[in-house]
Amino acid sequence: MSDQDMTVQSHRALNPGEYRALAVGAPPTFRQDVARALGASTEAVGWLANVAEAERALAGDRNTDLLVLSPQVADTDALSIADFINRTSPTTAVVLVRDGSPNGLLPMAMRAGIRDVVNATNGAEELQEALERAMKWSASLKAASGTVGEPGVSGKIYSVFSSKGGTGKTFLACNLAVAIAEKTGHETALIDLDVDMGDVFSYFGTDASRPLHDLISVGEDADAEALKSVGTKLGDNLWAFGAPHDPTAAGISGDSITKVLKSIQRAFPYTIIDATADYSDLALSSFDNSTEVLLISALDVVGVKHLGKAIETLMSIGVPEERLRIILNRADSKVNLTPEDVERVMNIKVDDLLPSSRLVPLSLNNGRPVFLEEPKSEVAKSIGAIADKLIADDPGASPVQKPKRRLFGRA
Ligand SMILES: Nc1ncnc2c1ncn2[C@@H]1O[C@H](COP(=O)(O)OP(=O)(O)O)[C@@H](O)[C@H]1O
Ligand SMILES: [Mg+2]
Repeated sequence: MSDQDMTVQSHRALNPGEYRALAVGAPPTFRQDVARALGASTEAVGWLANVAEAERALAGDRNTDLLVLSPQVADTDALSIADFINRTSPTTAVVLVRDGSPNGLLPMAMRAGIRDVVNATNGAEELQEALERAMKWSASLKAASGTVGEPGVSGKIYSVFSSKGGTGKTFLACNLAVAIAEKTGHETALIDLDVDMGDVFSYFGTDASRPLHDLISVGEDADAEALKSVGTKLGDNLWAFGAPHDPTAAGISGDSITKVLKSIQRAFPYTIIDATADYSDLALSSFDNSTEVLLISALDVVGVKHLGKAIETLMSIGVPEERLRIILNRADSKVNLTPEDVERVMNIKVDDLLPSSRLVPLSLNNGRPVFLEEPKSEVAKSIGAIADKLIADDPGASPVQKPKRRLFGRA
């Protein structure tokens, strides 16, 4: 096919989902480069002249696996289309090709959700590998969002924990729940385990209306409707369970929460638990039942000590290290302690970083999660990036996202 033909083709509007891979940007022969790297015929790859056309072609599309942006696409256009795709077709992988080293661009590209930036001057192999990885990522994300939630398949449970108060547990739990519900379109449960003074509902500008005992009482065999009837709908696909402040409320046993988690796991593809700040029976039982426990700490000596103790304690009660995820909150604070220091001193691998932002307390005061209120902010994008990893991290899928590695290099 001549360049002329391909130019003509690009001016025919593509139907959403018509191609699994799309090349975007001049020259039209970029389409052939992408096809060659994918080991596909030129006709198997769609071509669009610019990001505006791509945006039109992709709106709401969940079929396209891959979008490859040519070196002619300006950085700002690349970041904005990536951002758009993240929101509208989150299972589409975006790869950016540059004619030179992308160094300065990398952090911004990653935050915008671009899977990879390829330096074309390094040869065809690099592009080929990047596109293969991106296709696999998209496939595993689709597999994960397609299988969970079906009858008989159990959902994933993520507990957020820190034994120190004020580290950002509730902020993370609420925003992660919103992000996962939005990105997957699957029903998501958010549970506040703090029966004395929970504040999950405050992040949504409301109060819990029913005691957590109502949730416990529906028990082991409850279906989705029974569970929802004792919860509060806080947004699209998002149901919350928590207790209003009641000092006279009787305690809840670990066994009873384990039972109800089994029901929840059948009914909700995703559950996020805001655990208590101590090693309560309730918290320990939720860790036992969690796909992963997200340990969050701020960058201060006391917080990091708590983190070390939490890792030790959880492992001692049998939570394997590959089920722990370490997240440093306010990790950009200039406080003479860096995430690298934490990794080195504690001999751990930090999985994710969240920046400090005044938007966090602001959104709390406005009663709307920052992920919804300020979706373009760095802090919302960082939450989105964690959500993406959890969604893609399907034990049944091909091991593309996060090869489970030891957190500890302990000799
Ligand atoms: N990344 C952040 N940037 C700025 N403020 C934050 C951040 N994370 C948490 N905060 C603030 O810290 C306070 C404690 O957060 P919260 O999630 O309620 O802590 P926890 O549940 O661990 O006790 C809140 O006022 C919250 O707004
Ligand atoms: Mg809290």
